[in-house]
Amino acid sequence: ADTVNLAVIGGDGIGPEVVAEGLKVLEAVTGDSGPKIHTTEYDLGARRWHATGETLPDSVLDELRGHDAILLGAIGDPTVPSGVLERGVLLPLRFALQHYVNLRPAKLYPGVQSPLAVERVAPDGIDFVVVREGTEGPYVGNGGSLRTGTPQEIATEVSVNTRFGVERVVRDAFARAAARPRKHLTLVHKHNVLTHAGHLWRRTVEEVGAEFPDVETAYQHVDAATIFLATDPGRFDVIVTDNLFGDIITDIAAAIAGGIGLAASGNINPERTTPSMFEPVHGSAPDIAGQGKADPTATILSVSMLLEHLGRTEESARVERAVAADLAERGDRVCSTTEVGDAIASRL
Ligand code: IPM
Ligand code: MN
Repeated sequence: ADTVNLAVIGGDGIGPEVVAEGLKVLEAVTGDSGPKIHTTEYDLGARRWHATGETLPDSVLDELRGHDAILLGAIGDPTVPSGVLERGVLLPLRFALQHYVNLRPAKLYPGVQSPLAVERVAPDGIDFVVVREGTEGPYVGNGGSLRTGTPQEIATEVSVNTRFGVERVVRDAFARAAARPRKHLTLVHKHNVLTHAGHLWRRTVEEVGAEFPDVETAYQHVDAATIFLATDPGRFDVIVTDNLFGDIITDIAAAIAGGIGLAASGNINPERTTPSMFEPVHGSAPDIAGQGKADPTATILSVSMLLEHLGRTEESARVERAVAADLAERGDRVCSTTEVGDAIASRL
């Protein structure tokens, strides 16, 4: 069988614990018959920064480029000033590797409790994906501070939206919608206030939409979208939105679909010229790090997305089915990190 060269970044806090369970499941599903998984671990995050002052050295980025995919746990630690690791490790990876599709599914699995009233969730349930733009918007770091610490202080954080960047993510979202049964795409933005970027997004959706006549489109302002996510999530199929709105609404999406412990994501370069990176939506949760309390399910579902991206559709589906079966059986039981990983791996 062939080999998958996987780069593994455990990172900070609970990252290494949940990644270990993700790898356990990956080994279990590939077994003797699947591809051989060759993993290389990269030490990035708080430990490295404290020891060396480095965040993401060019040499590491170059090595990462040589892999088929990246599995990441979490980046961020309270002992490091806010923004240093986010802007130094995670975002440079997403930007340099052209992860312009930040794919975040929200699916309520049978047996999982949503905080929403069940009768509101039915009959459509919760089964949508957010295509969050991953390389532009207010995340680019185009800003500055003037007169810092004075009463006249000025801070800017400019949202950068290029036609090229918006068009490529919108086209990807349309293609995903076209491949789903409902063929429905919602643009989430705020074009009544963000009249420059908002209109670029809106026009782009209109124009690219002409290539996808089967896909029905809708629009919601981001504030209204949060209401519908909390009251009528069944209306969503595919959502496309900018980097910051996508960050915010995918936490709501996780909350309604069983919690942040279950939310998976892929930072994807659909052109496949660089490795895509799969990670749980949650952060490093330093308050529970090292205690074996973190739910590795989000990482395991991210492994399923990784397999799908690599064209291992069969293994991807088997991981998802094993997770679904485990969730249905788990109910309200509180399980340790390794218990969940073992239970899911043993189903494979
Ligand atoms: C996420 C996280 C990151 C983001 C942070 C850690 C930079 O919240 O992946 O959603 O804002 O994208
Ligand atoms: Mn986030």
